[in-house]
Amino acid sequence: MTDDAVPASELYTDEFAADPYPAFAQLRADKPVCPVSSPRFDSYLITRFDDAKAALTDPRLSKDLYGPDQHYLRIFGPNSEGLNKNMLNSDPPEHTRLRRIVSQAFAPRRIEALRPRVAQIVDDLLDKIVPQGQSELMHDFAIPLPMRVISELLGIPEADHDRVLDWTQVIRTSGSSGRSPQEDRAAVQEAQLRLHHYFADLVQAKRAHPADDMISALIEACDHDGKLSEPELVTTSFLLLFAGHQTTADFIGNATVALLTNPDQLELLRASPELLPSAIEELLRFDGPLPVASPRIATEDVEYQGVSIPRGAIVGVVINSANHDPAHFADPDRLDLCRERGPHIGFGHGVHYCLGVSLARMEAQIGIGALLRRLPELRLGVPVAELRRLPAASPFRGLLELPVRFTA
Ligand code: HEM
Repeated sequence: MTDDAVPASELYTDEFAADPYPAFAQLRADKPVCPVSSPRFDSYLITRFDDAKAALTDPRLSKDLYGPDQHYLRIFGPNSEGLNKNMLNSDPPEHTRLRRIVSQAFAPRRIEALRPRVAQIVDDLLDKIVPQGQSELMHDFAIPLPMRVISELLGIPEADHDRVLDWTQVIRTSGSSGRSPQEDRAAVQEAQLRLHHYFADLVQAKRAHPADDMISALIEACDHDGKLSEPELVTTSFLLLFAGHQTTADFIGNATVALLTNPDQLELLRASPELLPSAIEELLRFDGPLPVASPRIATEDVEYQGVSIPRGAIVGVVINSANHDPAHFADPDRLDLCRERGPHIGFGHGVHYCLGVSLARMEAQIGIGALLRRLPELRLGVPVAELRRLPAASPFRGLLELPVRFTA
């Protein structure tokens, strides 16, 4: 790592966790390709929009973390192999094969058919919240909505929803649990192991008794190279569970805060609900849940903005910085729901572009639309500065808690 590397402890401060956008602006201006050193692993952050898009399609930046060089060991540790060796961590042609097979099970028809069920889940959750006058919205709404949708879609029996949720929350809140780093790592490992066994058993059960759900469809799906192997079925189910709820939950939380702290935009959306689809895109650009795309590895020395990124280096493409690049978005730190729909990269770019984009948009539109309709007096329950957030170095940008009130 070069001498001018920024120590992760200087970048990932409490101020950064609360509002990373000033730091991103400074990086874009002064160090658009920034080496960051940390005790766990060093990396290079790419922060400008054009570079970010180029990097997301650069074949020299590999996602093959579980290949012969075992880069995953540096990033996720040894316990991740049974769960994380999936399309998101592979390159073409392996990625193409995995994604093609999963796309069959993820057919737009199957997703669109979910619309009434998503609306029903939203209504059920809000029926419980409305009489209370106040709520912790992450716990009561933002997390259970996508979790229930993806669990039902995958075919996780209802009796198991709570324990699966508990395991995923241990992984999600890693670093903010109050446990020591060793205890925290052990808890995450334990949760991953349980999820691994759980999905291995569930795949067996679905093989024996197929049902009308996505795991059963994944078991049957095949292309000219054949079907998914048993380990691939397990890691793909885990990817869909995690990608399918974590990002959407954090997005609903972030979007709610963005609207409540920009009352003019909130009023605009209440007055013109037809703006909802474009509002969701602007909210995602404004404060997305995946600040940095999943890690890439340089397979050879590459150069961006005159900075040499050596072979083997970990590269982080900072989506949330790219989406605030003034070279592409006028007045980028302003939430403007009427902004002309621009080419944000909140759902990624290139071959790993979000597979669940239609489902994510559907859940966010129905969820946020209903929240505003049914809670006309919705406001934050604590000052925005007191909101508890995921740690600054978390791969996700989201809230630990979102206290709100809505009595008149
Ligand atoms: C607001 C919600 C969501 C956001 C912001 C989001 C964002 C993203 C991004 C940025 C990527 C690319 C990551 C990279 O290149 O490193 C991605 C990939 C992916 N997403 Fe989403 N996502 C969301 C919801 C969902 C949902 C609901 C699903 C459904 C299961 C899903 C499934 C996936 C999958 C399977 C991939 C990997 C695709 C591949 O490697 O080819 N996502 N998502």
